[in-house]
Parts: sequence; C-alpha cells; structure tokens
Amino acid sequence: MGSRRSSGTLRTRRPLGVDLVVHGDAQEALRRIPANSVQLAITSPPYNLRIEYAGYADDRAHDEYLAWLKEVWRDLHRVLVVGGRFALNVAPTSIKAFRPIHHELTADLRALGYIMRTEVIWYKQTMGRRTAWGSWRSPSNPHIVPSWEYVLVFSKGQWKLPGRKEDSDLTSAEFQSYSDGFWAIPPERARRGHPAPFPEALIERLVKFYSYRGNTVLDMFGGTGTVGAVARRHGRHYLSVDASLEYCERAAERIARATPVEGAPAIPAPRLVELVGPA
Ligand SMILES: C[S@@+](CC[C@H](N)C(=O)[O-])C[C@H]1O[C@@H](n2cnc3c(N)ncnc32)[C@H](O)[C@@H]1O
Repeated sequence: MGSRRSSGTLRTRRPLGVDLVVHGDAQEALRRIPANSVQLAITSPPYNLRIEYAGYADDRAHDEYLAWLKEVWRDLHRVLVVGGRFALNVAPTSIKAFRPIHHELTADLRALGYIMRTEVIWYKQTMGRRTAWGSWRSPSNPHIVPSWEYVLVFSKGQWKLPGRKEDSDLTSAEFQSYSDGFWAIPPERARRGHPAPFPEALIERLVKFYSYRGNTVLDMFGGTGTVGAVARRHGRHYLSVDASLEYCERAAERIARATPVEGAPAIPAPRLVELVGPA
C-alpha cells in the first residue's frame, strides 16, 4: 500500500479502502475514497468556536468556515451511494454570538442536492449545570441556554437505502424508540484527551437506524474514533479521518479494542494510514 513511517503509520498515495484510520485532511481523504462506496457518514465538524484541538486552529471567519464546510459536503456527496445517508451533528452557537448555524448548514446541503430527511433533537439533560440565565426572572433579557444539539439527517439522490432486511439489527423496541426524534442522551464524560467527543449511545442509534450490517460508515472529522469503534462493534466497515496524528493514534487503539456485539459479523481491526502526495 505504501511506505512505513518510524511511528508505524503506513503512508499511502493510493485510493482508500475500508477499516482505516486516516491521518490527513478531510477533503483530501474524501477525494481518495471511491465514488458511491459509503452508505452512512456521521460527523461533528470542528465548530469554529476556538476550541483547542491538537494541531488545528478552530477560528476562521464565519463565512469562510461555512464555505470550507460546503466544499467538504460536496466531496462527501460523490462518495455516498445513491440512498446513502449523512448525519451531521451540530451544536447551537453561543448566546451572545448566536447564529442559526443549523439553518445555514441545512441551506448549503440542500443547495448541493442533498435530500433533508429529518432533524433529531439530541437532548443532553445538562440543565443542572447552567449558570448564564441573562436577566434572572425578568423579561428584560432572559437567555435560552441550549441543553440540546441537532443531528441533521440527509440522503443522496433517494430516500431508500438499498439492502437486505436480514442485515438490519434493530429490535422492535429500538425502532420505536429511535423513530421518536427526541433523543435524551447525556454528553460523553470519558473525554479521552479530546475536547468534543460524541457519546457512543448517540452513534449507536444512528448506525443501527440508518445502515445495515456490512455497510461502510465514515467520519471525516473522526477525532478519537467514536464512529469507527461503534461501527466495528456493530458489524459495519469504517473509515475515520482526522487531521491530528495524536487523535488518529488514539482512535486506532480504541477501534482495535472494539469487539463485535452478539450476531455482528467480524470486521477487521484498523490500519493507521497517512495521506501523502496528490489525490
Ligand atoms: C468536533 S471534533 C470531532 C470529535 C469526534 N466526533 C469524537 O467523537 O472524538 C472535530 C475534529 O475535526 C478535526 N479536524 C479539524 N480540521 C480537520 C480537517 N481539515 N480534516 C480532518 N480533520 C479535521 C479535529 O482534529 C477534531 O478532532
């Protein structure tokens, strides 16, 4: 596949396969993934809120940030199969610098031709910790402090995802509970050295609700590999991309430890690869 670095990372110029943790830029990685090969993408992009990620400055001008993400969504569209899904987790912005970013992202994705399926409300149950009330007990300037995030869900080309019913792993109870789009899930407490990891329970729901066993699930801003670990555990192939080598190394270790749940097909442990050369 390519040459090996002293750290053990494999360097590659070739198109990407599956069951990989990819150290590199999201767009460069997307351009090396074959067209029409991914059934589900789940991601939470850097939020442009000056969060200190290892090796990435999260503070672009807002319009520049949205324009960059739009190009990422354009590249993603190519790699999704027809009927493939994209679940985009986005948090409301801060109160003082409020922008309806979920509307802005939705407009961009629809302009690119994605079909919007739904908007899940991930209720994080964090009211107990709140302090910023604004004008306490007065209508003068009270604040709504969001205790939720959104998961915006889109499809490429058509609503239906081709697949066999026997490759679904949803129980009736799960199906009924997940199809109520208000998901009460506490935020992730095990940070694993990352400022903004997903809770596994959120990703488990998305993976089981929107993909079949044996499908490929991608996170192009993969951080500590939550999507990859959950996908492997539930018998899906995975690709987890991140610009930080530190996070990729943690992701690779974590995904390697993910063992299949009962009945799930065995999926290979990850190889960590680094992108080199032009796509
Ligand atoms: C919100 S975090 C994702 C966290 C992840 N969901 C998890 O559970 O760990 C966004 C990630 O995007 C990565 N990132 C920032 N710019 C990137 C780029 N151009 N290409 C790939 N990854 C990037 C950051 O290193 C960070 O880990």
